[in-house]
Amino acid sequence: MAQPPPDVSEDDCLPEYRYLFCPDLLRDQVAFITGGGSGIGFRIAEIFMRHGCRTVIASRSQSRVSTAASKLTATTGQQCLPLSLDVCSPPTVMAAVDAALKEFGKVDILVNGAAGNFLCPAGRLSFNAFKKVMDIDTAGTFNVSRVLYEKFFQEHGGVIVNITATLGRRGQVLQVHAGSAKAAVDAMTRHLAVEWGPRNIRVNSLAPGPISGTEGLRRLGALATGSSYIQVNPLQRVGNKTEIAHSALFLASPLASYITGTVLVVDGGMWLASQNSTLGLADMVVGPTKL
Ligand code: HXC
Ligand code: NAP
Repeated sequence: MAQPPPDVSEDDCLPEYRYLFCPDLLRDQVAFITGGGSGIGFRIAEIFMRHGCRTVIASRSQSRVSTAASKLTATTGQQCLPLSLDVCSPPTVMAAVDAALKEFGKVDILVNGAAGNFLCPAGRLSFNAFKKVMDIDTAGTFNVSRVLYEKFFQEHGGVIVNITATLGRRGQVLQVHAGSAKAAVDAMTRHLAVEWGPRNIRVNSLAPGPISGTEGLRRLGALATGSSYIQVNPLQRVGNKTEIAHSALFLASPLASYITGTVLVVDGGMWLASQNSTLGLADMVVGPTKL
């Protein structure tokens, strides 16, 4: 069985990289990656850049994306433009897309990776907390897709990769907000694939399982890292960021030229087999009770 590619847990580039795909797979392409300053989004930016792509990495924190861009450019030699935006705020999205188009003259690939999550029982989740996660994950994905469509993709075509999750497939305790938000994004993937396909725009979702070295795993670790939980994963381990980045690279590249409207689950088979609804888990998280 194939071993996972090496990874590092910090938001740093890989010290060594062995090519599995053709090194110029994304040559002369430009990718706009929300959430590209950290975790999975950072590694996607790195792997795309190692394959000839220039990138825009965008999130709320300018210092986070600026630090990340310096690391990415130093390692790959490719240009990376760090931009601040809030995916919930369309004016900031428009300004960022304008800046990207001014710098590069085009965008070929959009990766919607920005997200927010935490563990919280549904009965203690405030109305605003539910709305906030829906706003970042679902409305945010729509906002950036819509702006890029209007400003570039409708005339030139493009590829969209939405980073989602498997939480809503079976229902997951403490995750009604994120599971609902990501399920809605998977629906959005299908709608936009159908509506925008004639414009030569491919839209797919990539749904990771628990991934090491990420904020997501740090926040959701109680759900995903216990030894019994790992044992029920068919591949007996969590995944790593490079594995997700390779899947994103596949979906974004011409290798996937006839693939649209799908959800590529990259979780070692976890969602098929995972344990879930223990009342103990539902009780163990103490969060705000304000509604
Ligand atoms: C319950 C919480 C909470 C918690 C915040 N809230 N944290 N409720 N438990 N741990 C509530 C707040 O009280 C508030 O509600 C509302 O959520 C909004 O919180 P703010 O702090 O005002 O929002 P904001 O500053 O915009 O921050 C958004 C955030 C934050 C999502 C709450 O955590 C964030 O910025 N996250 C980005 C990074 C992140 O989450 N990465 C992990 C992605 S992993 P009230 O009612 O008080 O106003 C992921 C994995 C998916 O998505 C699947 C894994 C298998
Ligand atoms: P992460 O590092 O926290 O990534 C989330 C990113 O989103 C951050 O860079 C954050 O940067 C940005 N962001 C949050 N709110 C934003 C907003 N309103 N506007 C713009 N950017 C915003 O977490 P991760 O674990 O790597 O997760 C990356 C993606 O993978 C997410 O879509 C997540 O749902 C998905 N996922 C992760 C796992 C996992 O195991 N880690 C599993 C399944 C799915 P700022 O704070 O600077 O804004």
